[in-house]
Amino acid sequence: MKITKSEHARRRKKLMRSMDRQSIAIVPGAREVTRSRDTEYPFRQDSDLFYLTGFEEPDAVLVLIPGRRQGQVILFCRDRDPEMELWNGYRAGPEGAVAYYGVDDSFPIEDMDDILPGLIEGKHRIYYSMGHDDAFDQRVMGWVNQIRRLARTGTTPPADFTDLAFLLHQQRLIKSAAEVRIMRRAGEISAAAHCRAMRECEPGRFEYHLEAAIQHCFAQHGARFPAYNSIVGSGANACILHYTENNARLRDGDLVLIDAGCEFHGYAADITRTFPVNGRFSPEQRAIYDLVLEAQSAALSRVKPGSNWNQPHAAIIRVITRGLVKLGLLEGRERDLIKSESYRDFYMHRSGHWLGLDVHDVGDYRVDGRWRPLEPGMVLTIEPGIYISPENTRVAKRWRGIGVRIEDDVVITANGCEVLTAGVPKLADEIEALMAGNG
Ligand code: GLY
Ligand code: MN
Ligand code: MN
Repeated sequence: MKITKSEHARRRKKLMRSMDRQSIAIVPGAREVTRSRDTEYPFRQDSDLFYLTGFEEPDAVLVLIPGRRQGQVILFCRDRDPEMELWNGYRAGPEGAVAYYGVDDSFPIEDMDDILPGLIEGKHRIYYSMGHDDAFDQRVMGWVNQIRRLARTGTTPPADFTDLAFLLHQQRLIKSAAEVRIMRRAGEISAAAHCRAMRECEPGRFEYHLEAAIQHCFAQHGARFPAYNSIVGSGANACILHYTENNARLRDGDLVLIDAGCEFHGYAADITRTFPVNGRFSPEQRAIYDLVLEAQSAALSRVKPGSNWNQPHAAIIRVITRGLVKLGLLEGRERDLIKSESYRDFYMHRSGHWLGLDVHDVGDYRVDGRWRPLEPGMVLTIEPGIYISPENTRVAKRWRGIGVRIEDDVVITANGCEVLTAGVPKLADEIEALMAGNG
């Protein structure tokens, strides 16, 4: 199910076609990050470099030079080293980079300072994403200054720096058929994990037990890592949007909100479900739950070509405002409440985000000052929520501390959208049935 070598080559070709003549792109990979003393966090490749190569080792830099006769795609990477490989694992080395990743040429990363100035020389423009890694920014400037110092000999340094993101992130925003297949699988695995958490939930257990069930399910399906830190928030913890302590006891009568998704072949899933710890929604919990679900389906009906990025969000605001008035949680006229953004006390984020190699994936939400039109192949989340703070004294006590979010991943198709995460139920009745062992 991995992205093929030929798809990586097509991606690079497409990017190079949109680059200027006489230009060069420099894409550094991710570094290893220390977790403590001499242990590192699990290595995760930079998404841009991974998108263009599939290369998963640290200390790699991709260089693209459209039109260069001796080779347009160059990868700097770690050299082979039997001693280091014995301790830390296999390295492709420059020969492997050419053989297995289809780059034109490859050199040891140690030689980069000697080779790169020569490749930059004579180019008018450098595509490079400045401002993400100070040390690497300095190196790039060093290479350019080296050429500048030689200016008297007739060489000219590049006049322009352009953020590669303008071209590359536009490309990453529209997913290919192969990417959608991987993301569909990421969605299925994550949905199965949420079902498992629902089945295993019981009063008296802890939030981290559900986190563990989810993590176990991901790994068993070949997705070793979550795409982001899982959120398991029970009771009022559900009202903390980025709660990740996950250490409270699950109490009878509370809801639990789980926001968790796996990473599969580099691609993220992102699902939220909210369900009762004891398997039965109380009337208040159910009223809020059904309102969030209604908001989500209103938003989903607007996820199609021809809509723009803001339309699902606007639909959520309308449904939530109307519903909160009906329940007595907001007072006033719907139009005025929307205008004054009164819903923000309960729904304070937006409808979702692009999804892909990064959970909050790349791509602009506005184009030329307007909300971006939705197009087939875009993948996004739809994740309305209502969070009633335990400190909100303007609402009756019985509502306080209820937090509900429902989040699914969708790909836009020719005439609508496909929900990639439909494998986990979201109707309140279906959730209760599953938790009672009948789902
Ligand atoms: N899990 C992060 C988000 O929903 O945006
Ligand atoms: Mn999300
Ligand atoms: Mn999420």
